[in-house]
Amino acid sequence: HVVLTRALMPLLVAGGGARVVSVSSIGHLRAGIQWDDPNYLTRPYDRWEAYGQSKTACALFAVALNARQSGRGVFANAMNPGGSMTGLQRYMSQDELRAMGWLDADGKLPAHWRTPEQCAATSVWLATAPDLFEPIAANLESAGLAGDDARIVLEKPIGHSLDSALEINESIGAVFPESRIYRIDHYLGKETVQNLMALRFANALFEPIWRAGHIDNVQITVAETLGVENRGSYYDNAGAMRDMLQNHLLQLLCLVAMEAPVRFDAESVRNEKVKVLEALKPITGNDVQDKTVRGQYGAGQIGGHDVQAYYFEKNIDNDSDTETFVAVKAEIDNWRWAGVPFYLRTGKRMASKRSEIIITFKPVPHMLFSKGETNRLVIRLQPEESISLQLMAKAPGKGMQLEPVELDLNLVHAFSSTRRWEAYERLLLDVIEGDSTLFMRRDEVEAAWRWVDPILRGWHSHYRKPRPYPAGTDGPEQAHQLIERQGSRWRQ
Ligand code: BG6
Repeated sequence: HVVLTRALMPLLVAGGGARVVSVSSIGHLRAGIQWDDPNYLTRPYDRWEAYGQSKTACALFAVALNARQSGRGVFANAMNPGGSMTGLQRYMSQDELRAMGWLDADGKLPAHWRTPEQCAATSVWLATAPDLFEPIAANLESAGLAGDDARIVLEKPIGHSLDSALEINESIGAVFPESRIYRIDHYLGKETVQNLMALRFANALFEPIWRAGHIDNVQITVAETLGVENRGSYYDNAGAMRDMLQNHLLQLLCLVAMEAPVRFDAESVRNEKVKVLEALKPITGNDVQDKTVRGQYGAGQIGGHDVQAYYFEKNIDNDSDTETFVAVKAEIDNWRWAGVPFYLRTGKRMASKRSEIIITFKPVPHMLFSKGETNRLVIRLQPEESISLQLMAKAPGKGMQLEPVELDLNLVHAFSSTRRWEAYERLLLDVIEGDSTLFMRRDEVEAAWRWVDPILRGWHSHYRKPRPYPAGTDGPEQAHQLIERQGSRWRQ
């Protein structure tokens, strides 16, 4: 953290406490974006997304520029010293900074950024390892940058266990009040994820059947084709449970399972989500083996190319037993969901990049026809955003041959004239606006860890190596067995 704070602090302090943006990578340079281009913000994102790793940086640039144009605030983004991304000043010359308007002719922050009210709105985004949160917050405080309206944005995972999360929340809470702490989970910034709330709470259609009496099971899959890329040192200490399931997948589960909030505001929405997390049935003892599957990818093929096994990736121990895949059968002990399994799975180096939520309804009470499949609602978050409902229909011709057909809503086509915001862009602007509805509250994070911790402990105490699966597949066989035992199947 010394390196980090040394790199960050001078920039922050240079402006006498004024806001500074420290951008996380050189993505924009590679993307060839012109800073003075007035159409910068309206450009399609496709071009930027080609830069993969720099997506976040691009979003941050959009946020920063937008904020600058509207005079609403600017971000500082402190990155891991050893990570792929690092502070702006490492990449930008004074001339470039000047050309972008971040520095004035004398190499100082422009005077109009130094007004007290602007200082007050400084937001610092810590996309660092969680053990750096505490020292950075303390340094921000001692540098006078944790003032009355300063905000701090913490990247997930918040800690690596309940105890460490409690410690972080405690120490950050000593510097910033909860209302100015933004725990980011970028899945909540995705359009389709928010659409889930619109689907449930703005349509009369689904809510009456959104419960145990009508729903057989829920599947949430977040599959990636990427491996660990250059994040090995972080990932090998985290694994799929801490990196994805404890946060992204549990947040999706909350949005599927929560009761309708009284209002669409930060406290009402988060009150409902936390109730879901608290109602998760603990997975302890033998249940850990029965209801969870850990996997690790071996060598295989992705998109026709050979890829190496996890334990040969950069910065990974050759005998690492970190999971790159996890599947869990979760249950929610409350009136609405009693007896409905929520199957969660996520993994790296899987067959395709796909994030989706599938609600499988119960069969009709009495089947008249020879073939019947149950209705399924498929909410796709990635790669394309869509919602489709599988219904049974009669195939044309003689007799009553039934076939499943899909009622499809492609959200990209439905809103084709509107630029789709990058999740981080949306969320970081919410920070500037002071809206924490789509951020995790302290008790949510702690409730999520309270459920995850016993699983991690169970894996540790009944040690079993993660099940191998070849890269480019759907994960280990045991993950199929987990769901098939109950007569269901993962959607292919
Ligand atoms: C991040 C995880 O939070 O989410 C990464 O740390 C993962 O490991 C990424 O690759 C996935 O995000 P998305 O938006 O590409 O689904």
